[in-house]
Amino acid sequence: MADFVLLISDWYRLNARELPWRNTKNPYFIWLSEVILQQTRVDQGMNYYLKFIENYPILNQLANADEASVLKLWQGLGYYSRARNLHQTARQVRDEFGGEFPQTYAEIIRLKGIGPYTAAAISSFAFDLPHAVVDGNVYRILSRYYGIDEPIDTGKGKKIFQELADSLIPTSDPALFNQAIMEFGAIQCTPNNPDCESCVLNQSCGSAFNPELIKKLPVKKG
Ligand code: ADE
Repeated sequence: MADFVLLISDWYRLNARELPWRNTKNPYFIWLSEVILQQTRVDQGMNYYLKFIENYPILNQLANADEASVLKLWQGLGYYSRARNLHQTARQVRDEFGGEFPQTYAEIIRLKGIGPYTAAAISSFAFDLPHAVVDGNVYRILSRYYGIDEPIDTGKGKKIFQELADSLIPTSDPALFNQAIMEFGAIQCTPNNPDCESCVLNQSCGSAFNPELIKKLPVKKG
């Protein structure tokens, strides 16, 4: 296995934050956490996640709630279309799958408002399927580590990074790798001034100790 995968997985075992959605295999809870965390920081999103699972511990309870109640619980988080989509998709899962979250990537990605990132997160965290998450953290880490200057905001660029991430993800515990790479982006390989001195990848990273490359990568076209 690539050094990258081993190093980042070992780093995660030592440095992972204890977060409530990491202790569950419930696809509905995982989906909820990912929707909240799309545009919200972990420390702000935490209470909302806990409130939602307390008020609607079962997906059908969210589906059966009226929209005003869901929006009220979402109040303060912003980007209210997220709450409306969450609610509508809960209704879709209720109506098309009897309230039980579908268990394959192909079915999950067909749900309204669920894109490749969220489908990969649910597939791997809930069902241990080897689908790699590619979010801003992953673009940053892979572009820096492998020295890839392909723009990330083009169809070609997105494909290159998704294929690279999919080629790295181990079939044994893919969830761990996905959590690890996101956590590594949040804590170690930060957008600005990452601390290469303390980084476990600094022997093999193509951008280590190189402020110009760190600043330049990942490249955006537009
Ligand atoms: N941001 C998005 N998804 C996350 C997750 N599962 N854990 C921590 N931060 C995240």
